[in-house]
Amino acid sequence: MERNINYILSMSEKYLHYPKLDAGKITLSRRTCEILPEVIEHALEGEQKQILSRSMKVNIIGQKLLTRLTMFVDPEMMWVVFSNLISNAVRYGREGGVIQVGFKKTAEEYEFSVLNEGEGIPAEMLSAVFQKFVRLDGKSGSPRGAGLGLFNAKEIVELHGGSIRAESEQGKWANFVITFPRIRVEPEAGEAAADPGTHEAEETERPAREGGAEEKEKVP
Ligand SMILES: Nc1ncnc2c1ncn2[C@@H]1O[C@H](COP(=O)(O)OP(=O)(O)OP(=O)(O)O)[C@@H](O)[C@H]1O
Ligand SMILES: [Mg+2]
Repeated sequence: MERNINYILSMSEKYLHYPKLDAGKITLSRRTCEILPEVIEHALEGEQKQILSRSMKVNIIGQKLLTRLTMFVDPEMMWVVFSNLISNAVRYGREGGVIQVGFKKTAEEYEFSVLNEGEGIPAEMLSAVFQKFVRLDGKSGSPRGAGLGLFNAKEIVELHGGSIRAESEQGKWANFVITFPRIRVEPEAGEAAADPGTHEAEETERPAREGGAEEKEKVP
């Protein structure tokens, strides 16, 4: 019972944003935020009960890099993206399977991923799943959603200047990869220390900055 109420609450929180997104009316309220606690851990907490009830395990890859990562994004909208990806991984992933949230960075890009073990997605549907109301035929009895989560995730990621794609090995795993050009989402010098409430949403182009030595983390 409590689980259902929590689930409905978390879903309605998510769906609150949907009409605005659908009408293309969303404006981002960007501020400098800490991605791991404010977005990723927050989204994982929202799915915690479902994760436990399906005996799934979550691994975070690149945690060291993530711990100190601040980004200039709309944290609420980013939470909508990660909640959708994580709830999909829980719903459509294999019971007892592993969900892997990954992060890596290069000189130019930040890359996030959410992977789950399970049935995966047929190759011909990898881009179609981002269309509104597209849902794959699951096994009978498997949960069904509205078919809006990935459509909205794509809108939000693209508003931030990023891109999202799905990869899968059928029968084994599905992986959703989000890439942001760093130039579009990095706090400018000084912003990290500024009042987080003062940055209103503008899709501003930033002048290119120099440097940024390539940093890579070993992924097992
Ligand atoms: N990790 C995944 N593994 C396998 N199939 C997936 C995965 N994520 C999404 N899908 C498929 O893509 C479809 C669309 O996903 P999407 O998140 O847009 O909608 P939904 O989960 O059905 O509903 P909503 O997110 O609106 O509650 C899903 O119905 C499912 O068939
Ligand atoms: Mg979904």
